[in-house]
Amino acid sequence: MAEKYEAPVELGDGVHWVGYTETDSVFRTNAYIITSGDEAALIDAGSAVYFDSMSKQIEQIVDVTKINYFIQHHQDPDLCASLPLWEKKIGPRKIYAQTKANILIWHYGVTSELVNVDDIGWELKLADRTLKFIFMPYMHSPGEIMTYDPKTKILFSGDIFGGLSMDWNLYANEYYMDAMESFMENYMPSSEIVNENLKRIDGLEISMICPQHGSIILKNDVDKAVKTLKELECGSYLYE
Ligand SMILES: [Fe+2]
Ligand SMILES: [Fe+2]
Repeated sequence: MAEKYEAPVELGDGVHWVGYTETDSVFRTNAYIITSGDEAALIDAGSAVYFDSMSKQIEQIVDVTKINYFIQHHQDPDLCASLPLWEKKIGPRKIYAQTKANILIWHYGVTSELVNVDDIGWELKLADRTLKFIFMPYMHSPGEIMTYDPKTKILFSGDIFGGLSMDWNLYANEYYMDAMESFMENYMPSSEIVNENLKRIDGLEISMICPQHGSIILKNDVDKAVKTLKELECGSYLYE
């Protein structure tokens, strides 16, 4: 049985999980919000299907008109299709993504300013922290990024480190590595690309990994999750 949460869950200073768990879908999504000063940044805004429930959940912790930034780790509909609905509700804001993702995000008909993180030094300054964007090309999208919050040491990883299972838990349990492997082996393109990109998080102090699907990986399991991903047979190898 999947766990149910109807309220946001605080993960660290100014950081909340605001996912949506009413559905029995195996492909459930997580979103996260960072509140900082008088502003907020919504990470991987979410699907159009879950917009009403997710926005109600977010309203429990922040006046949604304070959301000035949408951070989108890539362009897929499960994290971007709600963007036009958000714009209808609060007006155009700024969408932060890599250039190759923003080119496609534009096709949702958004009117927000599209900010290419690769053009602005891969960071977003908020009142009390500066978020760092980490390029992870082809994992699984050519413009893939992750977001690191140096204040809480949380790594927001998008589809990377995501997992799919009917028995969802907010925090990864002993079964999560299997759920992660079965999702990752289908979505990650090749072991070489995965290993080359993961060098960018070598030595990074990580308190938890917050993926867009599946469960949050706490500090004790971070090394295991990275090792699992590095050793994964994935993508093109499956079809040899
Ligand atoms: Fe995706
Ligand atoms: Fe996704």
